[in-house]
Amino acid sequence: MKFQTTSYHFDLLKDTERVSAFFEAIDDYSNKTDLAYDLGCGSGVLSYFLSNKFDEIISIEIDSKAYGCASNNLKSFDNIEVINSDVLKYEFTKKADLIVCEMLDTALIDEEEVQVLNHARKFLKDDGEIIPKAIVNIAQLVNMERHYIHWDEGAKYEILSVPVNYSKIIFKDEINPDFEKDIKFNVNKDGIANGIMITSVTILNDEIVCGPTPMFNPPLLIPIDELDVKCNDLINVKLKYIMGQGIETIETRIL
Ligand SMILES: C[S@@+](CC[C@H](N)C(=O)[O-])C[C@H]1O[C@@H](n2cnc3c(N)ncnc32)[C@H](O)[C@@H]1O
Repeated sequence: MKFQTTSYHFDLLKDTERVSAFFEAIDDYSNKTDLAYDLGCGSGVLSYFLSNKFDEIISIEIDSKAYGCASNNLKSFDNIEVINSDVLKYEFTKKADLIVCEMLDTALIDEEEVQVLNHARKFLKDDGEIIPKAIVNIAQLVNMERHYIHWDEGAKYEILSVPVNYSKIIFKDEINPDFEKDIKFNVNKDGIANGIMITSVTILNDEIVCGPTPMFNPPLLIPIDELDVKCNDLINVKLKYIMGQGIETIETRIL
C-alpha cells in the first residue's frame, strides 16, 4: 500500500526499526478485538496495522495535513474512523481493548504522551492494553561539544560515566508529569563533565524493546555546570523536567 504523508511523517515511515517494532507488537496482540484507539495517528500507518484485528478503530490526529493524509490512506477501511482533533479535547465515549499511542520522544519531555494517556486511560477496559507498554530512561555524564540542549544529530560528545537507569514510566499507571530526581553518576573516565545524555528505550510489549533510532527518541544532550571528574568519582546531579511541557522545562544542578 502506498501512503500519502507529510515530510515529517514520511521520515517516521522510513524509520523501519520503529515501524517494524510497532508492526510486531500489534501483530502479537491477541486479547479482545472490539475497539482500538490510535492516538496521534499521523499518516495512519499504525491504524493500518490494526485494521485486520479490530471491529472498530478510532484514529485521532491533531495536525490537519496529517489528518488529511490518514483519511485518504485509510478510506477503504469501513472499520476505521479518522478524527481531526486534539486528543486532550476529544470526548471519549467508549472503552477500548487497546490504545496505541506513539507520541513518544526522549524521556517523554517534548510530546504530550503523558497528558494524552492520562486523559484517555479512563477509556481503556480493565483488561485492556496499551502499546507501547513502558519507557525506560537512562542517563550518563558526558563532555559535549555544544553547550545547549539538543538531540544527538551528529554533534560530538564523549561519555564519562556508566549508564544509570533513572526512571521507568509504565503507561497503564496514572503518571505525574512533574519529574525530579537526584541521579548518582559513577565516573569511568577522566575528563571535563559538562552535560548529561538521556537515552530512552521503549518497551512495546513483554517481548519487544526498541530504540533509540534516528526518528524514535534519539539521545538528548543537556548541559550542566562544568566539572573536572576522575575515574571512580561519584557525582550527584539533580534533574528536573515536566513531561509533555517541552525541553525548556529541563533544569539541572550539581549537588
Ligand atoms: C511521533 S508522531 C507518530 C505518528 C504515527 N502514529 C506513526 O507512528 O507514524 C506523533 C503524532 O501525534 C500527533 N499529536 C501530537 N499531539 C497530539 C494531540 N494532543 N492530539 C492528537 N494528535 C497529537 C502529532 O501531530 C503526530 O502526528
